[in-house]
Amino acid sequence: MSFRHISKEALAGSITLGVVLVAGYFFGKKKSSRMSISKSHCGGKDDPLMQYVLNNSLREHPALKKLRLRTMDHSWNIMMVACEQSQLMANLAKLIKTKKAIEIGVYTGYNTLSIALALPDDGVLIACDVSEDYTDIGKPFWKEAGVEQKIDLRIQPALKTLDDLLSDGQAETFDFVFIDADKVNYDNYYEKSLQLLRKGGIIAVDNVLWGGKVLNPTPGDEDTVAIDKLNKKLHRDARINLSMLTVGDGLTLAIKL
Ligand SMILES: C[S@@+](CC[C@H](N)C(=O)[O-])C[C@H]1O[C@@H](n2cnc3c(N)ncnc32)[C@H](O)[C@@H]1O
Ligand SMILES: *[C@@H]1O[C@H](CO)[C@@H](O)[C@H](O)[C@H]1NC(C)=O
Ligand SMILES: *[C@@H]1O[C@H](CO)[C@@H](O)[C@H](O)[C@H]1NC(C)=O
Repeated sequence: MSFRHISKEALAGSITLGVVLVAGYFFGKKKSSRMSISKSHCGGKDDPLMQYVLNNSLREHPALKKLRLRTMDHSWNIMMVACEQSQLMANLAKLIKTKKAIEIGVYTGYNTLSIALALPDDGVLIACDVSEDYTDIGKPFWKEAGVEQKIDLRIQPALKTLDDLLSDGQAETFDFVFIDADKVNYDNYYEKSLQLLRKGGIIAVDNVLWGGKVLNPTPGDEDTVAIDKLNKKLHRDARINLSMLTVGDGLTLAIKL
């Protein structure tokens, strides 16, 4: 997906964003908003080129497809990961022979399932979220796909789970981490994930373009400021090699050196 595409979509999605932010206030926590792929997450309805990409590359496990369709019925479906991005991350995880992975921000568990399917039988995915209401939606589909035993769901603030793993002596043992929860904690998630990661492991950071808002971070907008700050920090960070991709709402891949 081109950056131009994302900007255009960001404009088109600004009304949705407003609704999400206001509703987010009602729910008492700030939600991430995905403006770039909010329409169907997988259909590319208004974009023939995106449709072409999906038509000619997407290979969804049947349970994954069912979970996506189930998620589309949910009021926060804008939070779901882009499916082509999820497939990319599953391919990457497999490429580096991931056995131990972490997902920070599960929602209904579409990407959780996608990564779990890419793990070997003795692999494990530590899945972090604070909402059982969201994650309960995914569980039957994890089971249907026969991978629920690989998913270790921890319902508590993700920082606590990462600290637990560190104090449990699991530093430098993880192969792959996906960061996709509350934006103000992104830097904390990144630092702790880097400690948990082995050399050659990958941290994937989602929403790094934030619908284009990173071009204009305003002081009061703490989510955008946090994302922009982390983007600039990663560019300078000698502990990693990186790529910033324009897939979905922007995805940075950081490879631990
Ligand atoms: C953008 S959604 C995750 C989307 C998911 N990765 C997917 O593939 O569809 C963000 C999730 O982070 C969770 N979250 C928010 N704050 C959190 C925290 N402090 N610790 C753990 N999870 C949190 C929310 O409950 C929400 O489910
Ligand atoms: C993608 O596939 C759908 C469903 O088969 C079809 O309606 C649509 O025309 C296709 N679009 C492109 C660009 O290939
Ligand atoms: C990291 O990038 C540098 C060039 O920027 C390259 O020389 C080095 O081999 C890379 N390291 C790894 C592990 O990919």
